[in-house]
Amino acid sequence: MTDKNRVWIFDTTLRDGEQSPGATMTHAEKLEIAQMLDEMGVDIIEAGFPIASEGDFAAVSEIAKLSKNSVICGLARAQLPDIDRCWEAVKHARQPRIHTFIGTSPLHRAIPNLDMDQMAERIHQTVTHARNLCDNVQWSPMDATRTEHDYLCRVVEIAIKAGATTINIPDTVGYTAPRESAALIQMLLERVPGADDIIFATHCHNDLGMATANALAAVEAGARQIECTINGLGERAGNTALEEVVMALKVRHDIMPYDTHIDTTKIMGISRRVSQVSGFPVQFNKAIVGKNAFLHESGIHQDGVLKNVETFEIMRPADIGLNEANIVMGKHSGRAALRSKLRDLGYELGDNQLKDVFVRFKALADRKKEIYDDDLVALMQDSTANT
Ligand code: KIV
Ligand code: ZN
Repeated sequence: MTDKNRVWIFDTTLRDGEQSPGATMTHAEKLEIAQMLDEMGVDIIEAGFPIASEGDFAAVSEIAKLSKNSVICGLARAQLPDIDRCWEAVKHARQPRIHTFIGTSPLHRAIPNLDMDQMAERIHQTVTHARNLCDNVQWSPMDATRTEHDYLCRVVEIAIKAGATTINIPDTVGYTAPRESAALIQMLLERVPGADDIIFATHCHNDLGMATANALAAVEAGARQIECTINGLGERAGNTALEEVVMALKVRHDIMPYDTHIDTTKIMGISRRVSQVSGFPVQFNKAIVGKNAFLHESGIHQDGVLKNVETFEIMRPADIGLNEANIVMGKHSGRAALRSKLRDLGYELGDNQLKDVFVRFKALADRKKEIYDDDLVALMQDSTANT
């Protein structure tokens, strides 16, 4: 592994993820998730927005004190009191980071009613202030993907000169597309003096379902930090899902030779826990962590998987810490799967008995959406009673 191919994983489940309407987590839940993120190898944990509430401040401070490996980051608007409050919370960490941002697109500039020069001055002032407090400063031009390129280059250069060590390029409204996401990073790397000395991050939202593709395209163009959340939790349609980018880089390392330090076997555990504490169920067919992501129901698929799992699986369930059976019985299942499943349940069937049980299994599967192990045991008990 060469260092230039190392990709830093920045998890913002506890900040952007928690901004999903209804996803509020308790203090204890936040600490638990932060500990899981730390243990799975997340490089930077964005633990909250300290000025947003007393609760957020307390959670970020506590996570900062408890973190063992990860950099602990807090978010702050481009205002000096926000930055001071953020520092008060993250300063307890072994490796603290201040992340400050301002909306730079025409629509966002209109909100604080700053013209281009006034905003440039604000960026210089706030990044300088943050850097005087902390060695590790991240700056984000919110809505970067809808910001004029010349202005974006100008403000990124100002932030770098003021001491930002990471420049994050947010696609705040999930508007960009992979080719454009890559071109933007490439343009910044080519045009901004000092760009080679800092890390570019990509922060994508999923409004058009392209967050993962956009993040990976940015990495291919030179971004080296991916901002993401567990299960893709986040405002509106959510953020880039951590499990998707990490597994995409692992499974397609042949064409995307970039390395993260994530222990992928911890993915399923944290996915389930985030779903529980946020109250956001994971859709059944969600990539990587959905209930159906590794299940095979049709006869052809089951037969293939039983003979060689690689026929229909590009990664192993154990890679994400899933140790459950990947065969689910239903009306599309075939004899080979039924025989194998019954064998797992302790029933060794001859050909004639299998034929009989298979007919009754199909009739049951036509009536029931899912066939559980208990249904098969009941079927076998009936079969034994009738012979
Ligand atoms: O989406 C966004 O622009 C953000 C910023 C605060 C980085 O979350
Ligand atoms: Zn965001």
